[in-house]
Amino acid sequence: MRLEDKVAVITGSGSGIGRYCAFEFAKNGAKVVVADLNEKGAAETEKQIQANGGIAVTFKVDVSKPESVQKLANFTLKTFGRIDVLVNNAAIQINKTVEDMTFEEWNLQMTINVGGVFLCSKQFLPHLRKTKGNIVNMSSVNSFFVEPMCAGYCATKSAIVGLTKAMAIDHGHEGVRVNCILPGYIDAGLAEGYFLAQPDPAQARIDAGKLHALWRIGKPEEVGRAAVFLASDDASFVTGSSMVVDGGFGSGLPPK
Ligand SMILES: NC(=O)c1ccc[n+]([C@@H]2O[C@H](COP(=O)([O-])OP(=O)(O)OC[C@H]3O[C@@H](n4cnc5c(N)ncnc54)[C@H](O)[C@@H]3O)[C@@H](O)[C@H]2O)c1
Repeated sequence: MRLEDKVAVITGSGSGIGRYCAFEFAKNGAKVVVADLNEKGAAETEKQIQANGGIAVTFKVDVSKPESVQKLANFTLKTFGRIDVLVNNAAIQINKTVEDMTFEEWNLQMTINVGGVFLCSKQFLPHLRKTKGNIVNMSSVNSFFVEPMCAGYCATKSAIVGLTKAMAIDHGHEGVRVNCILPGYIDAGLAEGYFLAQPDPAQARIDAGKLHALWRIGKPEEVGRAAVFLASDDASFVTGSSMVVDGGFGSGLPPK
Protein backbone atom coordinates (compact mmCIF):
# COMPACT_ATOMS: atom_id res chain seq x y z
CA MET A 1 0.00 0.00 0.00
CA ARG A 2 1.74 3.14 -1.26
CA LEU A 3 -0.28 5.71 0.71
CA GLU A 4 -0.85 3.94 4.03
CA ASP A 5 -2.46 6.36 6.53
CA LYS A 6 -1.89 9.40 4.30
CA VAL A 7 -4.70 11.97 4.26
CA ALA A 8 -5.65 13.09 0.77
CA VAL A 9 -8.05 15.80 -0.34
CA ILE A 10 -9.24 15.25 -3.91
CA THR A 11 -11.28 18.02 -5.52
CA GLY A 12 -13.86 17.12 -8.14
CA SER A 13 -13.93 13.53 -6.89
CA GLY A 14 -17.71 13.28 -7.14
CA SER A 15 -17.35 11.95 -10.70
CA GLY A 16 -15.03 10.93 -13.51
CA ILE A 17 -11.26 11.00 -13.11
CA GLY A 18 -11.42 12.48 -9.60
CA ARG A 19 -13.67 9.64 -8.43
CA TYR A 20 -11.23 7.04 -9.77
CA CYS A 21 -8.31 8.89 -8.20
CA ALA A 22 -10.23 8.59 -4.92
CA PHE A 23 -10.77 4.85 -5.48
CA GLU A 24 -7.07 4.27 -6.23
CA PHE A 25 -5.93 6.40 -3.26
CA ALA A 26 -8.26 4.52 -0.89
CA LYS A 27 -7.11 1.15 -2.29
CA ASN A 28 -3.57 2.24 -1.43
CA GLY A 29 -4.44 3.00 2.18
CA ALA A 30 -5.17 6.74 2.04
CA LYS A 31 -7.94 8.42 4.00
CA VAL A 32 -9.78 10.42 1.37
CA VAL A 33 -11.73 13.67 1.58
CA VAL A 34 -14.09 13.55 -1.40
CA ALA A 35 -14.45 17.28 -2.10
CA ASP A 36 -16.93 18.36 -4.76
CA LEU A 37 -19.68 20.85 -5.52
CA ASN A 38 -21.81 17.88 -6.54
CA GLU A 39 -22.92 16.41 -3.20
CA LYS A 40 -24.77 13.46 -4.74
CA GLY A 41 -21.75 12.39 -6.77
CA ALA A 42 -19.45 12.80 -3.78
CA ALA A 43 -21.76 10.64 -1.63
CA GLU A 44 -21.63 7.92 -4.30
CA THR A 45 -17.80 7.99 -4.35
CA GLU A 46 -17.74 7.80 -0.53
CA LYS A 47 -20.22 4.90 -0.53
CA GLN A 48 -18.21 2.88 -3.04
CA ILE A 49 -14.94 3.43 -1.14
CA GLN A 50 -16.51 2.40 2.17
CA ALA A 51 -18.13 -0.66 0.54
CA ASN A 52 -14.62 -1.77 -0.41
CA GLY A 53 -13.29 -1.29 3.13
CA GLY A 54 -11.66 2.11 2.53
CA ILE A 55 -11.89 5.34 4.50
CA ALA A 56 -13.61 8.35 2.90
CA VAL A 57 -15.63 11.38 3.95
CA THR A 58 -17.34 13.95 1.76
CA PHE A 59 -17.27 17.73 1.84
CA LYS A 60 -19.24 20.11 -0.39
CA VAL A 61 -16.78 22.68 -1.74
CA ASP A 62 -16.75 25.31 -4.42
CA VAL A 63 -13.06 25.55 -5.32
CA SER A 64 -13.59 29.00 -6.83
CA LYS A 65 -14.71 30.51 -3.50
CA PRO A 66 -12.04 31.37 -0.87
CA GLU A 67 -14.38 30.92 2.12
CA SER A 68 -15.56 27.53 0.85
CA VAL A 69 -11.95 26.32 0.38
CA GLN A 70 -11.07 27.56 3.86
CA LYS A 71 -13.97 25.51 5.27
CA LEU A 72 -12.64 22.46 3.40
CA ALA A 73 -9.24 22.89 5.05
CA ASN A 74 -10.83 23.32 8.50
CA PHE A 75 -12.97 20.22 7.96
CA THR A 76 -9.99 18.14 6.82
CA LEU A 77 -7.87 19.12 9.81
CA LYS A 78 -10.75 18.62 12.25
CA THR A 79 -11.56 15.19 10.79
CA PHE A 80 -8.09 13.74 10.23
CA GLY A 81 -5.71 16.17 11.97
CA ARG A 82 -3.38 16.52 8.98
CA ILE A 83 -3.11 16.66 5.18
CA ASP A 84 -0.53 14.82 3.13
CA VAL A 85 -1.77 15.10 -0.45
CA LEU A 86 -3.88 17.63 -2.33
CA VAL A 87 -5.20 16.59 -5.74
CA ASN A 88 -6.45 19.66 -7.62
CA ASN A 89 -8.73 17.95 -10.12
CA ALA A 90 -12.01 19.94 -10.24
CA ALA A 91 -12.63 21.67 -13.55
CA ILE A 92 -15.21 22.62 -16.15
CA GLN A 93 -14.90 22.74 -19.93
CA ILE A 94 -16.69 25.28 -22.10
CA ASN A 95 -16.48 24.20 -25.73
CA LYS A 96 -16.29 27.50 -27.60
CA THR A 97 -13.94 29.60 -29.69
CA VAL A 98 -12.67 32.91 -28.27
CA GLU A 99 -15.09 34.75 -30.57
CA ASP A 100 -18.11 32.78 -29.37
CA MET A 101 -17.22 32.83 -25.67
CA THR A 102 -18.51 35.58 -23.40
CA PHE A 103 -16.17 37.29 -20.94
CA GLU A 104 -18.32 35.82 -18.14
CA GLU A 105 -17.73 32.28 -19.47
CA TRP A 106 -14.00 32.97 -19.83
CA ASN A 107 -13.82 34.23 -16.23
CA LEU A 108 -15.89 31.35 -14.86
CA GLN A 109 -13.65 28.73 -16.48
CA MET A 110 -10.46 30.52 -15.38
CA THR A 111 -11.77 30.98 -11.84
CA ILE A 112 -12.70 27.33 -11.37
CA ASN A 113 -9.90 25.63 -13.33
CA VAL A 114 -6.95 27.86 -12.41
CA GLY A 115 -8.33 29.90 -9.49
CA GLY A 116 -9.36 26.63 -7.82
CA VAL A 117 -5.79 25.28 -8.01
CA PHE A 118 -4.49 28.58 -6.64
CA LEU A 119 -7.00 28.79 -3.76
CA CYS A 120 -6.74 25.15 -2.65
CA SER A 121 -2.92 25.19 -2.87
CA LYS A 122 -2.73 28.49 -0.97
CA GLN A 123 -5.00 27.15 1.76
CA PHE A 124 -3.28 23.76 2.15
CA LEU A 125 0.40 24.66 1.60
CA PRO A 126 1.05 25.64 5.25
CA HIS A 127 -0.25 22.22 6.32
CA LEU A 128 1.54 20.31 3.54
CA ARG A 129 4.76 21.96 4.69
CA LYS A 130 4.29 20.35 8.10
CA THR A 131 3.83 16.83 6.69
CA LYS A 132 6.32 17.19 3.78
CA GLY A 133 3.32 16.48 1.62
CA ASN A 134 2.65 17.06 -2.04
CA ILE A 135 0.24 18.41 -4.64
CA VAL A 136 -0.94 16.70 -7.81
CA ASN A 137 -2.64 19.01 -10.31
CA MET A 138 -4.83 17.76 -13.14
CA SER A 139 -3.83 19.45 -16.39
CA SER A 140 -4.40 17.91 -19.84
CA VAL A 141 -2.63 17.13 -23.11
CA ASN A 142 -4.66 20.13 -24.25
CA SER A 143 -2.05 22.22 -22.43
CA PHE A 144 0.31 21.64 -25.38
CA PHE A 145 -1.76 19.93 -28.10
CA VAL A 146 -4.89 21.92 -28.74
CA GLU A 147 -8.07 21.11 -30.58
CA PRO A 148 -10.87 23.18 -32.07
CA MET A 149 -13.57 24.73 -29.91
CA CYS A 150 -11.88 24.71 -26.53
CA ALA A 151 -9.74 27.87 -26.45
CA GLY A 152 -10.46 28.89 -22.86
CA TYR A 153 -10.14 25.35 -21.53
CA CYS A 154 -6.75 24.86 -23.23
CA ALA A 155 -5.57 28.17 -21.74
CA THR A 156 -6.50 27.00 -18.23
CA LYS A 157 -4.72 23.67 -18.66
CA SER A 158 -1.53 25.41 -19.91
CA ALA A 159 -1.70 27.76 -16.93
CA ILE A 160 -1.78 24.77 -14.58
CA VAL A 161 1.52 23.48 -16.01
CA GLY A 162 3.14 26.85 -15.30
CA LEU A 163 1.63 27.06 -11.84
CA THR A 164 2.84 23.53 -11.06
CA LYS A 165 6.43 24.43 -11.94
CA ALA A 166 6.25 27.73 -10.03
CA MET A 167 4.96 26.06 -6.86
CA ALA A 168 7.52 23.26 -7.20
CA ILE A 169 10.30 25.85 -7.35
CA ASP A 170 8.92 27.94 -4.48
CA HIS A 171 8.24 25.06 -2.08
CA GLY A 172 10.67 22.28 -2.98
CA HIS A 173 13.21 23.44 -0.37
CA GLU A 174 10.46 23.11 2.24
CA GLY A 175 10.01 19.44 1.34
CA VAL A 176 6.79 19.95 -0.62
CA ARG A 177 6.60 18.37 -4.09
CA VAL A 178 4.21 19.66 -6.79
CA ASN A 179 3.48 17.77 -10.02
CA CYS A 180 0.79 17.61 -12.65
CA ILE A 181 -0.78 14.98 -14.87
CA LEU A 182 -1.64 15.52 -18.53
CA PRO A 183 -4.27 12.96 -19.49
CA GLY A 184 -5.27 12.27 -23.08
CA TYR A 185 -8.92 11.50 -23.82
CA ILE A 186 -10.30 9.65 -20.82
CA ASP A 187 -13.64 7.85 -20.66
CA ALA A 188 -15.07 10.33 -18.16
CA GLY A 189 -17.15 13.48 -17.73
CA LEU A 190 -15.45 16.24 -19.70
CA ALA A 191 -14.49 14.10 -22.70
CA GLU A 192 -18.08 12.90 -22.84
CA GLY A 193 -19.22 16.55 -22.87
CA TYR A 194 -16.73 17.31 -25.67
CA PHE A 195 -18.01 14.40 -27.78
CA LEU A 196 -21.61 15.53 -27.28
CA ALA A 197 -20.68 19.03 -28.48
CA GLN A 198 -19.45 17.65 -31.83
CA PRO A 199 -21.80 17.29 -34.83
CA ASP A 200 -21.61 13.44 -34.66
CA PRO A 201 -20.80 12.42 -31.06
CA ALA A 202 -20.50 8.66 -31.73
CA GLN A 203 -18.09 9.22 -34.63
CA ALA A 204 -16.17 11.82 -32.59
CA ARG A 205 -15.59 9.20 -29.90
CA ILE A 206 -14.26 6.63 -32.41
CA ASP A 207 -12.09 9.27 -34.11
CA ALA A 208 -10.69 10.36 -30.72
CA GLY A 209 -9.63 6.81 -29.90
CA LYS A 210 -7.69 6.59 -33.17
CA LEU A 211 -5.70 9.73 -32.31
CA HIS A 212 -3.96 7.74 -29.57
CA ALA A 213 -1.01 5.45 -30.35
CA LEU A 214 -2.82 2.74 -28.38
CA TRP A 215 -5.92 3.26 -30.56
CA ARG A 216 -8.28 3.75 -27.65
CA ILE A 217 -9.24 6.40 -25.14
CA GLY A 218 -8.06 5.94 -21.56
CA LYS A 219 -9.82 4.68 -18.46
CA PRO A 220 -10.11 6.97 -15.42
CA GLU A 221 -8.39 4.42 -13.18
CA GLU A 222 -5.31 4.66 -15.45
CA VAL A 223 -5.04 8.33 -14.44
CA GLY A 224 -5.79 7.44 -10.81
CA ARG A 225 -2.83 5.04 -10.71
CA ALA A 226 -0.51 7.77 -12.07
CA ALA A 227 -1.76 10.13 -9.36
CA VAL A 228 -1.01 7.49 -6.69
CA PHE A 229 2.55 7.19 -8.02
CA LEU A 230 3.16 10.96 -7.96
CA ALA A 231 1.63 11.27 -4.48
CA SER A 232 3.67 8.40 -3.05
CA ASP A 233 7.27 8.15 -1.86
CA ASP A 234 8.01 6.22 -5.07
CA ALA A 235 8.11 9.70 -6.65
CA SER A 236 10.30 11.20 -3.91
CA PHE A 237 12.64 12.92 -6.43
CA VAL A 238 9.86 13.99 -8.81
CA THR A 239 8.72 17.60 -8.63
CA GLY A 240 7.70 20.24 -11.15
CA SER A 241 6.99 17.49 -13.63
CA SER A 242 4.18 17.10 -16.15
CA MET A 243 3.38 13.41 -16.40
CA VAL A 244 1.74 12.59 -19.72
CA VAL A 245 -0.84 9.80 -19.37
CA ASP A 246 -2.25 9.86 -22.86
CA GLY A 247 -1.87 6.52 -24.65
CA GLY A 248 0.54 8.28 -27.03
CA PHE A 249 -1.91 11.03 -28.07
CA GLY A 250 0.67 13.81 -27.79
CA SER A 251 3.45 11.83 -29.48
CA GLY A 252 2.15 12.17 -33.01
CA LEU A 253 -0.41 10.78 -35.42
CA PRO A 254 -0.67 6.97 -35.41
CA PRO A 255 -1.28 5.02 -38.65
CA LYS A 256 -4.93 4.93 -39.79
N1 LIG B 1 -12.04 13.40 -19.33
C1 LIG B 1 -10.97 13.67 -20.03
O1 LIG B 1 -10.79 13.17 -21.14
C2 LIG B 1 -9.89 14.57 -19.48
C3 LIG B 1 -8.71 14.70 -20.23
C4 LIG B 1 -7.69 15.51 -19.75
C5 LIG B 1 -7.82 16.15 -18.54
N2 LIG B 1 -8.99 16.00 -17.83
C6 LIG B 1 -9.06 16.70 -16.54
O2 LIG B 1 -9.46 15.79 -15.53
C7 LIG B 1 -10.20 16.48 -14.52
C8 LIG B 1 -11.52 15.77 -14.27
O3 LIG B 1 -12.28 15.76 -15.47
P1 LIG B 1 -13.46 14.71 -15.73
O4 LIG B 1 -13.45 14.40 -17.18
O5 LIG B 1 -13.40 13.61 -14.75
O6 LIG B 1 -14.74 15.66 -15.50
P2 LIG B 1 -16.00 15.53 -14.54
O7 LIG B 1 -16.95 16.59 -14.99
O8 LIG B 1 -16.49 14.13 -14.49
O9 LIG B 1 -15.39 15.91 -13.13
C9 LIG B 1 -15.18 17.24 -12.72
C10 LIG B 1 -15.69 17.37 -11.29
O10 LIG B 1 -15.39 18.68 -10.84
C11 LIG B 1 -16.50 19.14 -10.08
N3 LIG B 1 -16.51 20.60 -10.06
C12 LIG B 1 -16.77 21.46 -11.09
N4 LIG B 1 -16.74 22.72 -10.67
C13 LIG B 1 -16.43 22.67 -9.34
C14 LIG B 1 -16.24 23.66 -8.34
N5 LIG B 1 -16.37 24.96 -8.62
N6 LIG B 1 -15.92 23.26 -7.10
C15 LIG B 1 -15.80 21.95 -6.80
N7 LIG B 1 -15.99 20.97 -7.69
C16 LIG B 1 -16.30 21.33 -8.95
C17 LIG B 1 -17.71 18.58 -10.80
O11 LIG B 1 -18.86 18.56 -9.95
C18 LIG B 1 -17.22 17.19 -11.17
O12 LIG B 1 -17.53 16.23 -10.19
C19 LIG B 1 -10.34 17.92 -15.02
O13 LIG B 1 -9.33 18.71 -14.42
C20 LIG B 1 -10.09 17.81 -16.51
O14 LIG B 1 -9.61 19.00 -17.06
C21 LIG B 1 -10.02 15.23 -18.28
